[in-house]
Amino acid sequence: MLKKTLLLLLLFFFAITNAQKTRGKAELSEAKINLDEGWKFHFGNSANSEKDFNYGNKLLFHKSNVFEATIVSPKFVDSTWTKVDVPHDWVVELPFVKSATHEMDSHGYKPVGGLYPETSIGWYRKRFSIDKKDEGKRFEIQFDGVYRNAAIWVNGFYVGTNFSGYVGKSYDITDYMNFESGNVIVVRVDATQSEGWFYEGAGIYRHVWLNIRNNVHIPEDGVFVHSTVNGKNASVTIETEVENKNLTSSKGTIYSYVTDRNGKQIAKTSEQNFTLSVNGKTTVKQKIALNNATLWSLENPYLYKVVSVIKQNNQIVDKKKVNFGIKTVRFDANEGFFLNGKHIKIQGTNNHQDHAGIGSALPDFMQYYRIKLLKEMGSNAYRTSHNAPTPELLDACDSLGMLVLDEQRLLNSSPEYIDQFQRLLRRDRNHASVFLWSIGNEEQNIQGNEYGKRIAQSLLAIQKELDPTRTSTYAADMGNDFKGVNEVIPIRGFNYRQFAVADYHRDHPNQPLLGTEMGSTVTTRGIYEKDSIRAYVPDQDITAPWWASKAEDWWKLAAENKYWLGGFVWTGFDYRGEPTPYKWPNINSHFGILDVCGFPKNIYYYYKSWWTNEDILHISPHWNWPDKIGKPIDVWVNTNADDVELFLNGKSLGKKVMPRNSHLQWQVTYEPGTLEAIAYKKGKKLTTKVETTGQASKVIVSPDKTVMLADGKDGTVINVSFQDANGKEIPDANNKIYFSISGDAKIIGVGNGDPSSHEADKCGDGMWQRSAFSGKCQVIIQAGKTPGIIKLEAKANGLVSASTTIQIK
Ligand code: GAL
Repeated sequence: MLKKTLLLLLLFFFAITNAQKTRGKAELSEAKINLDEGWKFHFGNSANSEKDFNYGNKLLFHKSNVFEATIVSPKFVDSTWTKVDVPHDWVVELPFVKSATHEMDSHGYKPVGGLYPETSIGWYRKRFSIDKKDEGKRFEIQFDGVYRNAAIWVNGFYVGTNFSGYVGKSYDITDYMNFESGNVIVVRVDATQSEGWFYEGAGIYRHVWLNIRNNVHIPEDGVFVHSTVNGKNASVTIETEVENKNLTSSKGTIYSYVTDRNGKQIAKTSEQNFTLSVNGKTTVKQKIALNNATLWSLENPYLYKVVSVIKQNNQIVDKKKVNFGIKTVRFDANEGFFLNGKHIKIQGTNNHQDHAGIGSALPDFMQYYRIKLLKEMGSNAYRTSHNAPTPELLDACDSLGMLVLDEQRLLNSSPEYIDQFQRLLRRDRNHASVFLWSIGNEEQNIQGNEYGKRIAQSLLAIQKELDPTRTSTYAADMGNDFKGVNEVIPIRGFNYRQFAVADYHRDHPNQPLLGTEMGSTVTTRGIYEKDSIRAYVPDQDITAPWWASKAEDWWKLAAENKYWLGGFVWTGFDYRGEPTPYKWPNINSHFGILDVCGFPKNIYYYYKSWWTNEDILHISPHWNWPDKIGKPIDVWVNTNADDVELFLNGKSLGKKVMPRNSHLQWQVTYEPGTLEAIAYKKGKKLTTKVETTGQASKVIVSPDKTVMLADGKDGTVINVSFQDANGKEIPDANNKIYFSISGDAKIIGVGNGDPSSHEADKCGDGMWQRSAFSGKCQVIIQAGKTPGIIKLEAKANGLVSASTTIQIK
């Protein structure tokens, strides 16, 4: 008996200690719980309150909580609503609508905005539960990006509105939590008013998080890490904010440590005491010396981690980890830009955030896909025109080695826009990739006057306060004008007007200069003749709008003049909206070096020739011209070789010397066969050819990767092309492809890069299909959570179909 009691006591003791351990463990660090899955969605209506769930008729703001079964209360029944996961963009699913209004063409002819009340309000609801053991902690809901004007309720309590469609916002919802029954978040998204003049999408299109913290904690974005470099060593400064939400004053200690990229601790600060009154907040500054620091660079984007730790009574109560990179940047008005002391010309692209098939709701893997494509082209910098980017885009740039010019939405110093700028700075200042801020873009009404100057000064002061380690530019569509913003901006940004840069530099030799928007040739992938009916422009560096320039015109100046820091092409990728130079049926821009799927256009090879040291030799156009036998064709060769000789069916068409930062051209009388280029680069022979092909006979699928994580979020891009019976790729096929998928994965979008295609990006009926355009189309798939093998099949009438298997693990 005694033995039994003793045994029981022992077991109990172990159980308690273990329970304490588990509890202790659960308290060790904050929890960041992803809330992307399991939302319900329904359109509201901006013109008819009844159709907007009586939003305008009900008394929602008279009392602190709405228990009655209104749309914002937990009791509302949403069982008939559509199930969605975020990121979600409802606009990409809408049909294209022909319209003569500027708003409509700006946004890619999608029916959203004031004229379309039925499709401009979106309601979202989501249930979640909280473990009883977490009672007493702090709860915060974090929306990384909702387009836009998102009013948020939790359990019937209004918690706030995020006006911005781009920079996220967090709300403390501790007081409203239910521990026994569930909790309900309700979001009313209002995209009636737009922010940009380009496709913006609508909905909860970035991640949503639930942050659970102890009362003494580090707030979101409460760790700021920066460093200075001295020879081989770095001094890392870690500023950690800590706040006390206990109802009594609280004491604790704080320390930080640095780990290498594998998580191995390499240096640590001492523990520093703090005492905080009720609601008190302090920032603790600590320094760590790192000997032989590995610098973050474009070739080796090395990321350390800093962990800030808060302890109370010898227990860890909060811990925050941030990635950071050590680098030095220098902008010199005469010598250019230096990263870690090494001269680098900024070879940048501007981009909006949408992609074929998925609109603005990009799963994280798509950010890596897009940045990888730009990097492969030799681009080293990305301007987030004209808004706060998705945080995961910056993660991709940090880890792949791409500099970022991070842009504030508007040049405005009202409390709303100051708040947006502060949120942007606090959110992004630890990112290794961010090398420069932009306080705005083309504010034609104020950029040249005193308003613009004063607002710029206010924003610059905020930037210096929150991030003294960096500086700012502003994207001015001004020539040699030293007035307004340009008088006070540390780095003068030029949108276009590359011809005025030399004069400006002569007149203001101490202000560094950057091309914030450059080039902007309009091209349609694989099309060689202007077609005003289908709204296509030739795929060569020929056509630029009046305000813009061809690639060669700006890049020659930037490359050959040291005082140019470099520039950002408008744009890296095509994007929906801003069809130029044509309107309907054209629904997306033609400015991209890559199309909206990320397929390269010919100008890609121009930039790649001069932006990389790789051997580039590329001929355009393709060689399938049955209607042009005996007629002249302009052949372009893009290369970085020293000279090129062109051969048609083995006969030389002459040899030409390759001028730097340019291209070569031949006029060739067309005959079917093989057009071959033989080039020499420092004595090394390079060859390439284009060949006349037969009819398409089979479909080819090329997945970007063949393994996906079983996390319900990872995915991959699969590109589709065609071959003839001899295995030659068909450059002009336009066959329709029918996709099917088996296993635990789904198709989330299709595209083909045709700027005038009105086919659906999302095939709602589950019958996924897309026509090819100039020989290519694309399907994007996303993994489920079950490990295994999935299979994607691509069929086209009359052709041998293709399939690929992808492992989910
Ligand atoms: C610029 C503007 C960009 C885009 C571009 C089109 O003026 O900053 O957002 O509109 O023109 O060419």
